[in-house]
Amino acid sequence: MPVSDTFKLTVICFTLSLACNFQYGFSATYLNTPVDEFKRYLNTSLEKRGVAMTENTYNWIWNLIANIWFIGFFGGIWLGPFLNDKYGRKFGFIIFNGTNMIASLLRFLAILFYLPELLFIGRLVASISTAITYQSLIMFLQECSPTHLRGAMSFTSEISFGVCCLLGMFAGMDFIFGKNLKLLLGFAVVPSIVAFIVLFPMPETPKFLYIVKKDKKAATKSINFYHGKSADVSTVLHQIGLEAEKDLQSNSSVREILTNPYLRKALLLSCLALQNTLALSSLLLLSTDLLKHNNLDSGIAKWFSVGMTAAYAIGTIFGSPFVDKYGRRPMLLFFSTFNVIVLLFYVIFAAMESHISFIKYGCLLCFVIYGFNYGFGVGSIAWFLSSELVPQRHRSLMQSMTSAINTVILIILTFTILPLFSLIKAYVFLILYIIPSSFGIVILYVYLPETKGREIYQIVEELKSKKSRRVINAEEKFETEESDIN
Ligand SMILES: *[C@@H]1O[C@H](CO)[C@@H](O)[C@H](O)[C@H]1NC(C)=O
Repeated sequence: MPVSDTFKLTVICFTLSLACNFQYGFSATYLNTPVDEFKRYLNTSLEKRGVAMTENTYNWIWNLIANIWFIGFFGGIWLGPFLNDKYGRKFGFIIFNGTNMIASLLRFLAILFYLPELLFIGRLVASISTAITYQSLIMFLQECSPTHLRGAMSFTSEISFGVCCLLGMFAGMDFIFGKNLKLLLGFAVVPSIVAFIVLFPMPETPKFLYIVKKDKKAATKSINFYHGKSADVSTVLHQIGLEAEKDLQSNSSVREILTNPYLRKALLLSCLALQNTLALSSLLLLSTDLLKHNNLDSGIAKWFSVGMTAAYAIGTIFGSPFVDKYGRRPMLLFFSTFNVIVLLFYVIFAAMESHISFIKYGCLLCFVIYGFNYGFGVGSIAWFLSSELVPQRHRSLMQSMTSAINTVILIILTFTILPLFSLIKAYVFLILYIIPSSFGIVILYVYLPETKGREIYQIVEELKSKKSRRVINAEEKFETEESDIN
């Protein structure tokens, strides 16, 4: 593939990624840094109706607005496979970027007219829509890029998500839009409109056109658009055809995944890998609030929330070239363990902080290191692991099931973290994140296969065997030594 075509495809993939991830990243973070301003907004909204806002009312309204995101997301996850398989990847992407645009408008109106209900509805609509567009995006990235670039192009999603989170955090700082929620949520309407419009000229993915629509002419056009004019169209079509034949057997089902032992194992391993992403999802939403509880000045707390997110975004950019070099298994295990230790230090620092005041800066540092590690070796790998552990037929459903389970756990955690935090302080991290992650990492260490550079059928064989990774390692070593001797 000529360099100019690779460059063009990279630009296309970043455009697609940004079209989905602006809403995703912004929504994950815009409540974080301007937390005081939102409190004032809710107070004024209630006052205008003659209701006095107590700390208690504030807490549950705030919890509801923050967490409705995950509930809507959970609903959207199940709509995704249906829409994407029936109407194509582009249809759902465009329609739900449209509803995302409406959601952005609703949020803006909510601030203008002091109607927190609209903020709630806007957030709900945005979360359902984003769950669907995110799946469309992953399908687009996987299906429009040539095989040898598939991994690299899938990374554009994680990088753009990190950058948009950073943008959301930054926009919420006092000196930008943080003191003025009208500007903050008004500004977000503009990229939502752009995200809606840029999708129209993008053709449907070649795989969908050829396999499902059986439209060879349109598929050829699409390949020329994504792979460039010099693409060897007949070879690409032939390969897509091969994939289609293998896929004919029948559709995957939730029941099949739950009753088939090796699929169940893949599901469990994927969920355990995602277990390590939970703390960051909570922190992106709540870090300023949490750090303020550590007797930190709210200005410093904001800066460190931005710092953590910046470290995360930078981590994704630096981490992407290493994944294909060192493999998923060592990277995921090393950085997850590292992050558990970092969180443990956070708990220790937070406990000591009442005795030695400057130690609170240690708490801050922990979050920044955590963000970098996460971007470098945890986030992206954990999210695409599920699609590398199972054959094509089960891929999309397996992805939905793992993100659904992950979202349910996330809902429970984000609902409990703030009340528990007022009760037992930073020890909450011990119960909610450190202990569960530690158990998960041990199981992953024993059973997680390496997926880098291996064919799916080899990975499936390993999942089907009852042997632990250590036994397999020893056998592989033995085999290579034997072949060396021969
Ligand atoms: C709401 O605002 C009033 C003053 O307008 C203030 O007295 C009250 O403490 C505020 N409530 C909360 C929960 O901040």
